[in-house]
Formats: sequence, structure tokens, C-alpha cells
Amino acid sequence: MSFIEEINRRRTFGIVSHPDAGKTTLTEKLLLFGGAIQEAGAVKSNKIKKGATSDFMEIERQRGISVATSVLAFEYRDIKINILDTPGHKDFAEDTFRTLTAVDSVIVVIDVAKGVEEQTEKLVEVCRMRKIPMIVFINKMDREGKDAFDLLDEIEQKLNLTVCPLSFPIGMGYDFKGIYNIWEKNVNLFTGDPRKDIEETVEISDLNDSELDNLIGNNAANTLREELELAQGVYPEFDQDAYKDGDLQPVFFGSALNNFGVRELLDCFVDIAPSPRPKESDTRVVDPKEKGFTGFVFKIHANMDPKHRDRLAFIKIVSGKFERNVPYLHVRHNKKLRFSSPNAFFAEKKEIVDVSYPGDIVGLHDTGNFKIGDTLTEGEELQYKGIPSFSPEHFRYINNADPMKSKQLEKGIDQLMDEGVAQLFRLELNNRKVIGTVGALQYEVIQYRLEHEYGAKCTYEPLNVHKACWVEPENEKSEEFKEFKRVKNKFLAKDKRGQLVFLADSMFSLQMTQQKYPSIKFHFTSEF
Ligand code: G4P
Repeated sequence: MSFIEEINRRRTFGIVSHPDAGKTTLTEKLLLFGGAIQEAGAVKSNKIKKGATSDFMEIERQRGISVATSVLAFEYRDIKINILDTPGHKDFAEDTFRTLTAVDSVIVVIDVAKGVEEQTEKLVEVCRMRKIPMIVFINKMDREGKDAFDLLDEIEQKLNLTVCPLSFPIGMGYDFKGIYNIWEKNVNLFTGDPRKDIEETVEISDLNDSELDNLIGNNAANTLREELELAQGVYPEFDQDAYKDGDLQPVFFGSALNNFGVRELLDCFVDIAPSPRPKESDTRVVDPKEKGFTGFVFKIHANMDPKHRDRLAFIKIVSGKFERNVPYLHVRHNKKLRFSSPNAFFAEKKEIVDVSYPGDIVGLHDTGNFKIGDTLTEGEELQYKGIPSFSPEHFRYINNADPMKSKQLEKGIDQLMDEGVAQLFRLELNNRKVIGTVGALQYEVIQYRLEHEYGAKCTYEPLNVHKACWVEPENEKSEEFKEFKRVKNKFLAKDKRGQLVFLADSMFSLQMTQQKYPSIKFHFTSEF
């Protein structure tokens, strides 16, 4: 197969949802269709169980699962599909945001009864801003839920999407009879038996065909005709370019648990979802079909075995071929590295591979060279953009609780920050270390991992910070900037890259500061 054919047959995507909407169940059914797993129950949920905040075994269990399910790859209809796992728990939202920089499209799962939930809103907003193509799957149609039109309205309003149903439910819950597949023009009857699938579809290209009445009964057939006519009038026609540009979102209905509507989703996904897309770097836009290899690190995973402290860096290949044992340029360090055992991921295993193509993810063993956002190339000095740090929401001083182990503590903190677990700031005033995180759970993760992986102990101290903003002066030498640094000295810190950060203690003080120093910009993400 040619290089171009290899690229064209790849689909790399993520599934996003609020916890419990059915992401794990859907992933599993997709893998079953690809023949990648043999039975249900093979995919483990990466959910953090309720009340697990102080249960370290649970954190470790979750971490183990998240290595195993980071990338799930399988083949379907000669298409190589890579699913990138995204944690649903809000404390790990930053992890999910970073993974979304490595996908070419997304499937959004929504629970028919619960509708649009908080985490879905946040994640879809990120996808919308980045113009990532999205398909919506409305799940649990076997249960009583919201009316299809109401739900489509809610999706449009709350998620700010332009929906285009490509399937439509016939009844729901107890009365759920099946779905009409607008994309393929056929009816799929619901039997409630997850083992039955493909054979059940009946071709109905003309809705007035009396076969429809025979299949689902007169009343249901008439209701379906009316609803589809209404849908046609209200929603735009499917347009693949609009979908790929992130301006139109196809919607499917189904029940993942019953393996119903999943094949339809997958078939349409394979037809319409984009193959690897061009990506912007600091110097130019890179096309996947370029010969020169480029890629970037979007995730780092520490080894689960504390005796081997190497890590696995996950690289998304953007262009060219990635080959084993070929030296590549680590742009930030300006040094060449070669990798003798790059891992490729499959549903249940990882394997050493010789060649990978754009869209693929390879896992590289790393002894501390990589941090999130690093770029590898064949020699060109370019850096991929788009993996910003977000302004953390929780802040605490971190103290060394074992003076004999201060080196270990330094190293541990350094590596955990490279992995993207949290962000470290150093106060300008006294050089004290402050850890900023997105969720409170991270503090326990850090404390636990410092102790178990690095043999270091830490304690925390509260710190009253409302928001951390990255500071960008119009002119570094201006009197205004000098005054700002003098007056606000107590509230200034540097991040790991040495960028200046303002730690505002309240919304009010942030607003006052912004007003008082109009030539200074205050950013809520590190990339500007
Ligand atoms: P998540 O990864 O998005 O968090 O969700 P997950 O797939 O774990 O699904 C959450 C719950 O919803 C599970 O039940 C799952 O069985 C159920 N579920 C998923 N799809 C459907 C569906 O189409 N119909 C119905 N009725 N239920 C569905 P649970 O009781 O929480 O877990 P389990 O004990 O069944 O694993």
C-alpha cells in the first residue's frame, strides 16, 4: 500500500461524554465490530469510582487502566481506526483537553434521559473552538428519555451546534421499535438482543412504501413519516464539507448496551470522518502527506512499576513516516534521539513496530527527555502549537516533609509536572513552590506518587489564590510594567518555562489590576 493510501485509510478520534453516558460501552461495541476483542467486558472503564478520592488503590487502578486504554486501534472495512481514550472525570479534564489536540474528529455520547450534561458542555466547547468535526450519538434509546426533537433543540442551544440527524428513533423506552437510518435509507428493528445486528435492517428507500407499515405498524409508521418530514424542514441537509469544517454535526440514535445503532454509526463514521488533517506549527502548516516525519507529545505516562522509572511518551504522528531506529530531532533540546522499541497500540496489547503513519500514535520509552507539547522532526526546527496550560483552579504551597529526601522531591515534582499532572509556580518574593491544579484530586495523586515512586514526602499549605494569569506586557521596559511588578510583587510567580504569572487573590483584585494597568494583558492559558 502506498504512503498516501496509508494516510487516507486512517481515522483517529476520541469519544467524549459526561461520565455514565456510555462511552466505555460504546468503545467496546466498536471494538467488537472491528473483531479486535471477542467478548463484552474486555474494555475497562477508566472512571474513578465514587468516594475514591482517598482510595489510593483506586487511583492506581485507574492509572493502570488508563495506560491500557490510552489508544485502542482496530481495522474495519480496511480502515485503520485509532480511538484515543479521554478521562471523563472533571479533575482530569486537562488530560482530555490535551488528548483532543491529537484527534482528527470526535464522537460525542449523550444520555437520552439526562440530555446535555456539564462535562459534555465543556468538552464540546473545546472541540467547537478548534473546529474539530463531531458526530453526536444519543445513547440508551431502550430507556425512557427526552423527546427526540426536544433533545436536538437542547443540543443546539446548550452546545451551540448545528445538528443534522442521520438516523431517527421510532419510539423510545418501552415502545422503542428501532431506528430509521436516513443515511442508508433503511429501517433497523430493535429486538433487545445484543447479539443480533446487521441482518435486521430492511431497505426502505421510499417512506411511503407500505412495507414500513408492515414492519412497525400503521401508527408508528405514520408518526415516523410526520417526524421525518418535520426534521427535513427544520434541519439542514447533510454536507460533508460543513461537517469536516466543524460547522455541522450529524446525529445518530441507538443503544450501545444492546449493540443497537452502533454499526450504523461506525459505517457512517468510516465514510465521512476525516483522515489525518494538516496541523499548524509555529513556523508553518504541516500537511500529513509531506515526506518528512514530524510529530508531537500529547501525553506522558509514568511506568506502573516503581522499580523501572521510565515513562511512555505518546506521540501523534502528523506527517511522514516514523521509523524504528532512525534518529529524530528533539526540537526543544536540539538533540537527535533514536528509538529502538517504539510501541504501537492495539485493542488489548502493545507491540513494537517498524513503521507508523500519520494519524497513528506511537509510545516511546523515555527516561526524562520529554514533556508534554514537545515536537520531534527529521531535522526541521518547528514546534507544534495548541497544547496550552490552562489556568489552574486550586493552589497550595508544597513543602518538603523529609529533609533527607529533598533531591528525590525535586526530581519527583519535576517529572510529575512534565507529565502534566499539575503546574508548578515559584513565588518571586521568596522562591516558594506553589502547585496549581485543575481538580482537588490531583493533590492526593501527587502526594501518593511522590512517596511511592520517588521515596519523597510532601505536605501542603493553603494559599488564597483565585486565578493564575499569564502576564504579557506591551513593553517590558515601560514605567507601568515596572510599577506593576513592584506593587504586585507579593502576587507574582514564574511558571516552569520562566513565564511571569499573576496570582490574583480574588476576582475583584484581578479586575482592579486589569483596569489599573491597561497596557498589560492577562491570559488564562499559557499559549498566547
Ligand atoms: P461511561 O464510560 O460513559 O462512564 O459509561 P459506561 O459505558 O460505563 O456506561 C454507564 C452505565 O450505562 C453502565 O451501567 C452501562 O451498562 C449503561 N449503559 C450504557 N449504554 C446503555 C444503553 O444503551 N442502555 C442502557 N439501558 N444502559 C446503558 P452501570 O450499571 O453503571 O454499569 P454496569 O454495572 O452495567 O457495567
